[in-house]
Amino acid sequence: MKVTVLGAAGGIGQALSLLLKLDLPENSDLALYDVAPITPGVAKDLSHIPTSVNVEGYVGDDICVALEGADVILISAGVARKPGMDRNDLFNINAGIIKNLITHVAEVAPQACICIITNPVNTTVAIAAEVLKNAGVYNKNKLFGITTLDVIRAEEFVAKKKGLPAEHIRVNVIGGHSGSTILPLLSQVQGVQFSHQEVIDLTERIQNAGTEVVNAKAGGGSATLSMARAASIFGVNLVHALLGKQGIIQNAYVDGGNSCSPFFTQPLLLGKKGIERVLPYGELSDFEDKKKEEMLELLHADIEKGIEFVKNNS
Ligand SMILES: NC(=O)c1ccc[n+]([C@@H]2O[C@H](COP(=O)([O-])OP(=O)(O)OC[C@H]3O[C@@H](n4cnc5c(N)ncnc54)[C@H](O)[C@@H]3O)[C@@H](O)[C@H]2O)c1
Repeated sequence: MKVTVLGAAGGIGQALSLLLKLDLPENSDLALYDVAPITPGVAKDLSHIPTSVNVEGYVGDDICVALEGADVILISAGVARKPGMDRNDLFNINAGIIKNLITHVAEVAPQACICIITNPVNTTVAIAAEVLKNAGVYNKNKLFGITTLDVIRAEEFVAKKKGLPAEHIRVNVIGGHSGSTILPLLSQVQGVQFSHQEVIDLTERIQNAGTEVVNAKAGGGSATLSMARAASIFGVNLVHALLGKQGIIQNAYVDGGNSCSPFFTQPLLLGKKGIERVLPYGELSDFEDKKKEEMLELLHADIEKGIEFVKNNS
């Protein structure tokens, strides 16, 4: 298996590359690409860690070599949030970066599974889909917006609130990946009871957790280490599924035929060809159902913005 990280020299990219060097299956190839000249050095640094994962670093025009033969491409290239910004403030710069990178992917590695970390994910995934469609290589079973960070945050916050070990908590988070479009289904958490106020407080905290980090970093960026962990969980699971491991379920923001939105985050059974089956997200409480209905207008607008961007810049 070959895994390529685009944006590999950044805060997320470096930590993610380290985790992949440690956790990918034996003898995987890991290709690191970034516009930053440090990238071959990041690869050299990682190559001194004794695992069988083979790491190479690429910069500038070498993007095609980095992408050639890739099975999984993780994209964290772009700019990150500063205090006072929401994910949509990143749109102008990151939309162009994603469009450009996906154009290369469509040419060089159209068979690869593409995992987008770059924000605003609600929109950048729609941009990627349009670019791939225009190139005639769109496969909706191989395009993912990474929302795993919402899941691991939800599990950690619930565990801390209830004094339980986080590894025993599972939270199904659906919708999209920004503010009110992030919807943790706390009513489905097994073996844990919440008061109505706890549901309100935890839901708000999970929805605004990214801003907690942005403010705490005081201008130095957004979540990088927890995001790298989240992306490595998703990426490594995807690689195992592609290799034939059965029963791997992960949530992600996908074109999954959901009746409420063209792209929606929900549980997915992963398999040898990417998404094997989109799974139902289960029963919602009245509170969750109301929140789901309330988010849809915003989610649709985010998706439309991506489609329009590609139309206006083709
Ligand atoms: N999906 C999520 O849950 C989530 C969470 C946190 C951050 N993010 C997003 O991830 C992105 C990266 O965040 P970060 O903290 O690593 O930022 P960063 O600034 O530390 O790193 C970004 C990297 O992208 C590189 N880059 C820029 N343009 C590029 C291009 N055209 N090709 C290749 N590389 C390019 C930069 O050189 C830099 O190394 C941001 O958009 C951020 O909002 C997503």
